[in-house]
Amino acid sequence: MLGLSVCMSYLITETAFWGHSSKWTNWRNYIPRQKRVFTQHELAMHDGSSPDMPLLLAIEGDVYDVSSGWGFYGPGSSYHLFAGRDASRAFGTNCLSRSDHLTHDTRGLSEKELAGIKGWHRYFDNHQQYVKLGIVQLSPIDPAAPIPPPCEDAKPRPK
Ligand code: HEM
Repeated sequence: MLGLSVCMSYLITETAFWGHSSKWTNWRNYIPRQKRVFTQHELAMHDGSSPDMPLLLAIEGDVYDVSSGWGFYGPGSSYHLFAGRDASRAFGTNCLSRSDHLTHDTRGLSEKELAGIKGWHRYFDNHQQYVKLGIVQLSPIDPAAPIPPPCEDAKPRPK
């Protein structure tokens, strides 16, 4: 019965469990692979500029293969700015227009903004198609460097 349900679900919804998406139903997560440690430079090479290389992004230091989201993150797409880097700050501040928010520097963010980052992190972790590949070695933040100022035209995400 379970097998039949899985087959019917796959034929109709192209997912194994009737559209319920979770990392547990993503077969790619069951391929044994060594968790890789990326340098920021290596991550940057996976920003979609080379169509034959996987498209990666990072959040809070974790690296995800988001190749199946090429329409979101590929060159020319709305969220290309997240590709090939750890832009955790922008995930928290909703600031898509300023390059100084495309950073893993989360100093000075509010509880709500930090919770926003955690929410996106969970999103990538639980996504049915995206796969966590490893981590990125992030350059340490210089405590003396100025904190990026708040973003005036942060776009609230639709609910
Ligand atoms: C005016 C504000 C915004 C609108 C109308 C909007 C709309 C959308 C829509 C329609 C999608 C596609 C959803 C789907 O097909 O499942 C999407 C995806 C996405 N949005 Fe936004 N968005 C907005 C702001 C933002 C902001 C501020 C962020 C960053 C924090 C953001 C991050 C994302 C990401 C990362 C995805 C891709 C999710 C994935 O990989 O599956 N959006 N957005």
